[in-house]
Amino acid sequence: MLIVMEGLCKRYPSGERPVVDGVNLHVEQGEFVAVMGPSGSGKSTLLNLMGGFDSPDQGKVCVDGLSLYDLSEKRRTLIRRRKIGFVFQNYNLIPTLNVRENIAFPMAVDRCPREEIQMRVKQLVQDLELEGKEESFPAELSGGQQQRVAIARALSMQPRVILADEPTGNLDRRRSREVLEILSRLHRKERLTIVMVTHDLSAAGYAERILLYKDGRIESDIRQSAGDLQHVLEDFLTILRT
Ligand SMILES: Nc1ncnc2c1ncn2[C@@H]1O[C@H](COP(=O)(O)OP(=O)(O)O)[C@@H](O)[C@H]1O
Ligand SMILES: [Mg+2]
Repeated sequence: MLIVMEGLCKRYPSGERPVVDGVNLHVEQGEFVAVMGPSGSGKSTLLNLMGGFDSPDQGKVCVDGLSLYDLSEKRRTLIRRRKIGFVFQNYNLIPTLNVRENIAFPMAVDRCPREEIQMRVKQLVQDLELEGKEESFPAELSGGQQQRVAIARALSMQPRVILADEPTGNLDRRRSREVLEILSRLHRKERLTIVMVTHDLSAAGYAERILLYKDGRIESDIRQSAGDLQHVLEDFLTILRT
């Protein structure tokens, strides 16, 4: 099992109720999981906990056999960099670095050999269809291009899992589809494991498993076969309205 969450709880000091309330979740290597749920329900918190970015009040998060919150801060940072790729709604690129440098950044921090960095950046530029943009700066790119750079950067360390928080939240339909097609292709071809938070049912449609998250709990966990989206939508609306 690649990701194991057990008895996970988190409540912010200012919050009345826990935003993660006893979550148990297993994600297998190679799965593409979408997490859907109302705004404020704790999806980002859950994803951050999964990625070693936050700390739970109770419970366990294991990634690739390592219990993240039993590690020292230093070791956790290292594991996060090497095993987990993050993709954010706002891309979070470094504005003063060009595309090539943004993609190379985690590898440079990890002191990878220069030739390896160059080789991998070249491959990622191809995979993410960014040829010709290597020297451009983030401000010179469209949102879709920026998100593809962010995905390339997330993949640069060859992580075990990509965690994406509303990766298409700032993109129009066409650009969203481009980004999702790329994620879906990486998932199919490279057996990349992806956990993606999304508001968008058509984005969730790319995943093979959909979690409906509400009030800190996984209300429903559906493995969809092709064309099963209607069923998921009905479930989702029922949960939202109750
Ligand atoms: N760092 C924080 N400190 C205090 N409250 C927070 C913090 N982050 C999120 N929250 C609150 O926790 C709840 C869940 O937030 P979040 O995980 O971002 O939900 P979602 O991603 O589903 O919209 C919200 O009510 C939010 O205001
Ligand atoms: Mg969020």
